[in-house]
Amino acid sequence: MSKSTFYVTTPIYYANSVPHIGNAYTTIVADVISRYKRAMGFDVMFLTGMDEHGQKVQSAAVEKGIDPQQYVDEMAQVWQRLLTEFDISNDDFIRTTEPRHEKGVLRLFERMMAGGDVYEGEYEGWYCRFEENFLTDLQVKDGKCPDCGRPVEKSRERAFFFALSKYEKPLLEHYDAHPEFIRPDFRMNEARRFVEQGLRDLCISRSALKWGIQIPGAEGYTIYVWIDALINYLTGVGLGTDDELFARYWPCDLHLLGKDILKFHCVYWPAMLMSANVPLPRSLYNHGWLRVSGQKMSKSAGNVVDPFYLANEYGSDPVRYFLMRDIQFGQDGNFTEENLIGRYNSDLANDLSNLIHRTLSMCKKYFDSRIPAGGAALDDTLPETCESTFRAYCRYMDELDFRAALESVWRLISFANVFIDREKPWALYKQGEIEKLGAVLYGVLEAGRIILRMLQPFIPSAAGKMLSQFGVLAEPGNELPEQARWGGLLAGSKLGDVSPVFVKRKLPKSEPERRAASDDERKKEETMTKQTITIDDFAKVQLVVGQIKSAEAVEGSKKLLKLEVDIGHEIRTAVAGMREFYGPDEMVGKKVAFAANLAPAKIFGVESQGMVLAADSKEMVSLLTIDKDVPIGSVIR
Ligand code: ME8
Ligand code: MG
Repeated sequence: MSKSTFYVTTPIYYANSVPHIGNAYTTIVADVISRYKRAMGFDVMFLTGMDEHGQKVQSAAVEKGIDPQQYVDEMAQVWQRLLTEFDISNDDFIRTTEPRHEKGVLRLFERMMAGGDVYEGEYEGWYCRFEENFLTDLQVKDGKCPDCGRPVEKSRERAFFFALSKYEKPLLEHYDAHPEFIRPDFRMNEARRFVEQGLRDLCISRSALKWGIQIPGAEGYTIYVWIDALINYLTGVGLGTDDELFARYWPCDLHLLGKDILKFHCVYWPAMLMSANVPLPRSLYNHGWLRVSGQKMSKSAGNVVDPFYLANEYGSDPVRYFLMRDIQFGQDGNFTEENLIGRYNSDLANDLSNLIHRTLSMCKKYFDSRIPAGGAALDDTLPETCESTFRAYCRYMDELDFRAALESVWRLISFANVFIDREKPWALYKQGEIEKLGAVLYGVLEAGRIILRMLQPFIPSAAGKMLSQFGVLAEPGNELPEQARWGGLLAGSKLGDVSPVFVKRKLPKSEPERRAASDDERKKEETMTKQTITIDDFAKVQLVVGQIKSAEAVEGSKKLLKLEVDIGHEIRTAVAGMREFYGPDEMVGKKVAFAANLAPAKIFGVESQGMVLAADSKEMVSLLTIDKDVPIGSVIR
């Protein structure tokens, strides 16, 4: 049996500017949907691309003093790098200067003409060069474009028109018959109101502009860039060049777009398709606007967020996760780096990493790095919660409510973390209850595996890395419903390399803090490069291997942990400022470098006798652990 198909698109982005976080957002949403649908067994076609014709692009090239084709070729590389940076799994990338696109555009244009909907006349009206948009007297306010606020130009010429006005009634009828055609529903109302106000025929040619697709038989005329661009959704699946591909994927299941381009997609586009007698897409989803620290993102405000910077600074997965979790899809949302780091630390480095990493570490320690056998000692609450979570997850994913889908997965994560705290594997180990210990760890690992399968569309790279730490799996199939079924772990399987995938990050510093810190840093570097010490000086520091026996929070402090450290001949108490970076039971059992002859000091009422060494970067703190099994108390030099 052949698979059901699912065709999803993003807008094709203008080639005259570099990507910002808003474009990355739509593309990431499309990727999450595509990965989920593929995992659910669909034959997915995920199309994105670039809008390369038109006045804006031509002007940008002229400004740079290069040929428009060369210009868009260079920009295409930047846009494709965005896709690589964010692990975007698009199946194709359409560019409107490609011959396959031009061919398909002409095909559709001919079909619209054949239907009698394209005619010649004279155009007189307003044009916004920036938005590439014709405007009526009603739309223009004080000589300015209602969308971008820039001055509009009067334009008069012989022109080709599309008989959009014919489609008022058919559009409204289609909206009524297909409530899911335009989503969310308040956007459906917006489109309906626009049509109800009355549609005027649309000028679809430009005579002054060379950088576009020539209209056959009308020398010097190019097709209006929006008409050209919309048709990418057809030419990207083979209209005019590959009939088989076209038959396989058209009609499109889901066009994703921002609310800024609703009119073009929800009014003009279906009218064009009706005119050409091509079936309409099933659904158009108009998402909200990303703001930056509460403000509209714009070059002039200087607050445009660069997605390359974010990927480089935090990695692709945390940015993907943040956007999908923090912004209610469909609504406007707010982007701040502080919130991104907050989510990163609390959700990924704490909740998720804590669950996966701490459980795998316990398997490593108690079961010689093997998956223990599950057993009768475990009750049914974990498997049942996994099952109900998966059902809720699928329902939310199908509704495109990504935030709710992630929230339900996170409730399961908390449930599993609480389960560990309640069952206390470390105590079971001490009491020699190995069978129960195995069952508890197996249960939590199984929940962890199912959680990671559900998270894979969101954080593909990290989830993949974490899953590879589980060793060989015995999932009954490679589609999500089979993978999410209880029992996919292979008892006895050897674990992969167990290491944390998300490590906590410090909050970004405020500007004065940053300056003070960089002064400090510079001073430190200066003393480090200027001063040398003798080997005897160095030998004065007594460094030994210690093992952390216990760790607890120091009352009254957010940062400090009180540690008991075994250094061979005695147990020392030491206070360490690592609470932001390590959970208490993440530290227990670790062998670390310990400075043993520091003068004692009282910190928050605790007498600290020595110091655990750690590497301290700007973003994180890492214990200096001993990576071979040397005895406790060994000298470090
Ligand atoms: O309009 N928040 O291209 P474009 C969320 N070429 N999403 C945003 C955003 C923001 N602040 N800013 C942009 C065009 N977007 C045409 C499309 S399609 C046939 C032709 C996203 O480069 C959102 O998806 O201006 C929006 O619709 C799109 O980028 C506009 O990209
Ligand atoms: Mg735009």
